[in-house]
Amino acid sequence: MKDKNMKIVPCQKGDFLVLGRLNNIFAKEMGIIPTSLHTLKVAELLFRNTIQLAYHENIAIGYVLGMRSQVDKEEGWIRQLFVKKEYRGIGAGKILVQTELDVFRNLGASIVRLTTDPKNSTGIAFFKKLGFTVDKDYGETTKIEGFDAIKDFYGPGKHRIIFKKVMD
Ligand SMILES: CC(C)(COP(=O)(O)OP(=O)(O)OC[C@H]1O[C@@H](n2cnc3c(N)ncnc32)[C@H](O)[C@@H]1OP(=O)(O)O)[C@@H](O)C(=O)NCCC(=O)NCCS
Repeated sequence: MKDKNMKIVPCQKGDFLVLGRLNNIFAKEMGIIPTSLHTLKVAELLFRNTIQLAYHENIAIGYVLGMRSQVDKEEGWIRQLFVKKEYRGIGAGKILVQTELDVFRNLGASIVRLTTDPKNSTGIAFFKKLGFTVDKDYGETTKIEGFDAIKDFYGPGKHRIIFKKVMD
């Protein structure tokens, strides 16, 4: 870990409120609808083992929210990843994802996927740096910004890049 004041803590009971606060900042930055507290409460109750929070000097600075597939136990998904702007570049995102990959591996998953907005150049650079590759075989593709995005993934015109990482 680059910064000794940083730690990663698995989601605890009651953390849905912390996740809600971080998610509101995330949603505002990305221009997306915030995740409801109801959904985050359900996430905390049902799959908090695949949610990690990052703290810096005991301040919550980011989180990763993953889900293990119920239809294919081999597969994990990273649904949300966020680090507050003022804490970026010190390794929090990387350690969150590495921790999440370890969790999925220990649960028996062998592949982890996620989606990014084709315009999210930071997210794309970050996941490429961590060894994720573009999954071109997930469905019909369309070229956006030089990448093979999955056409209409989130509905008409809402194309997404799918990244995958096959685990050792
Ligand atoms: C993506 C995000 C989580 C990265 O978090 P972070 O804590 O700044 O990332 P880290 O400091 O752990 O960086 C890890 C690696 O990615 C690289 N990286 C991070 N941001 C980058 C960027 N904008 N361009 C190029 N490389 C980048 C770092 O150089 C680092 O490489 P290294 O391991 O060789 O040093 C953060 O920028 C964020 O929350 N963005 C907004 C939300 C978002 O886009 N989430 C992903 C959506 S799918």
